[in-house]
This record gives sequence, C-alpha cells and structure tokens, in this order.
Amino acid sequence: MIKKEIPFAVEIYASAEELNDSDATLLAKARAITTQAYAPYSHFNVGAAAMLTDGTTVTATNQENASYPVGICAERVLLSAVASQFSGRGIITMAISYHNINGESNTPISPCGICRQSLAEYGERTHQSIRLILSGMLGEVYIIEKAQQLLPLTFSAVSMK
Ligand code: THU
Repeated sequence: MIKKEIPFAVEIYASAEELNDSDATLLAKARAITTQAYAPYSHFNVGAAAMLTDGTTVTATNQENASYPVGICAERVLLSAVASQFSGRGIITMAISYHNINGESNTPISPCGICRQSLAEYGERTHQSIRLILSGMLGEVYIIEKAQQLLPLTFSAVSMK
C-alpha cells in the first residue's frame, strides 16, 4: 500500500485591492452581475464572470425555479453561454461572487459539486484549465490555480477509455 497525498493550494488575499488589475476587473464584473440573478427562493444572488482565451469577458447569474431542482448555478449558466455563443472557447479565469440578501456576503464561496464536475469537463474539452477567483461582495479573495483541483480523482472521459 502507498499513501498518495493530493496537494491543493489556495492563495488568500485580504481583499480585492491586493489583486492585479485584470483579476480585480473580472471580480468586479462578477460582483456587479449579481444584480441580474434570478433567485427569488434562496435570495442568494450569484454572479460569475469568465475571461476567455481571446480576452472577451462573459458574465452569468444563477437562475432558480419554483421547482427547486430545476434551478441552475451561475457557473453552469456561464459555461453553457460560453460554449454556445463563443464557439466553446477556453476560459482562462472565472470569478465567482454572490450577494446574500438575507445575510453577509463577505466570505468566498466555492462551486458546488455539480459545477465542479462541469468545470472539469469544460477545462478538459477546451484543453484550457480554468483559474478561479472566489469572493463575496467584499472581504477575502481566494484564487485557485485550476478548477479541477477542487475535484480530485475526477471522473472524466478518460475514465471510460
Ligand atoms: N449557487 C450558485 O449559483 N453557485 C454556487 O457556487 C453556489 C450556489 C446558487 C444555486 C442557488 O440558486 C443558490 O445559489 C443557493 O444555493
């Protein structure tokens, strides 16, 4: 038996002011687009912004439904938009933010399990790993070099070969 460690690092910044200009701009777009979320059930407005390989920025929000499981997270709305409207271009960085109408919005959130799987697939299909910037409307910012690191031992197309 061997025991294998799967290392995982998160860069932690005290606030968006510590970020470089392009990361700060992308996070600002994710924060701003939270106003367009459709989250009348959770009141948890999520915004996501993607910087594509050609420098284009695309934004999206979570879209809920009276039939709760039908709702879609901002990350997957964004992946679908990029895949459909930007020829499946690679995403270099995705910023994710939120405004919790009933609480605080000052601690980073990270993608749910389904979104982690979707991010992993999108990274693989575009041969472009996705860097993540995670933060609320204010406070600390986490940067994760590759979204796939959030899902160790990922099940993917390779697993079915
Ligand atoms: N949500 C996202 O859009 N992204 C996340 O990373 C976490 C959760 C949404 C789903 C639902 O509309 C609301 O936030 C509360 O879970």
